[in-house]
Amino acid sequence: GRTVRHLVRDDAGQVAATAADLILEALDGESAIGLATGSSPLGAYEEIVRRVRARAVPTPVARCGYLLDEYLGLPTGDPNSYASVIRREVADAVGLDVRGPDGRAADPAAEAQRYERELAGASIAVQVLGIGRNGHLGFNEPGSALDSTTRVVRLTETTRRDNARFFDSSEQVPTHAITQGLATIMRARRLVLIALGERKADAVRAALHGTVDPQWPASILQRHPDAYVVTDRAAAAVR
Ligand code: F6R
Repeated sequence: GRTVRHLVRDDAGQVAATAADLILEALDGESAIGLATGSSPLGAYEEIVRRVRARAVPTPVARCGYLLDEYLGLPTGDPNSYASVIRREVADAVGLDVRGPDGRAADPAAEAQRYERELAGASIAVQVLGIGRNGHLGFNEPGSALDSTTRVVRLTETTRRDNARFFDSSEQVPTHAITQGLATIMRARRLVLIALGERKADAVRAALHGTVDPQWPASILQRHPDAYVVTDRAAAAVR
């Protein structure tokens, strides 16, 4: 595949600043941004909020934000729903309207298809991404088809365990989610993947230097014309 641009920074603050630069550079008030949840992009989101508050960037930063994924079955308004998290962490503070799949839909498969159609018309300028320890992108777990679109997926036990820290008990972590597919993610005009810490190092290496392989879903970035991976030194380490 192509060479993915890998930017290595000394600490989480510099990772956040670099990611914010790459994200904001791709946006204007007419465009849409795709938003990942999880801990990795939080610093970049904080940085964007800070720049907006300091009037260092024109507002609105984007026309609206689209969720990368959403849990199925959480109660309406649950603080752990990805719509709630994204509003709380970034969207409300910068006045960004958030769209996503309805995790309470009676027919989740139909809801996933509806969201795929919405995304097809959305023209996403930049998609913010994290990466799982197992190389997952969104909730496209290993084995996901490279041409997959938005759909209902079952979460792996690793992913449920990794995300249990946000819930009162591990049984409360949903078993399913709706995720943008790998082909869906690839339609964004720019991809900015953020990874921090040594536990992401194997996945980062596979994404950047492995063969493009459904067993390491993030390796699909090598097929994107404008993909960036921004990491600290620990996540960049070669073991
Ligand atoms: C979040 C998502 C996931 C996370 C990944 C890393 O919307 O789709 O792929 O990006 O699990 O999570 P953190 O950043 O919490 O390590």
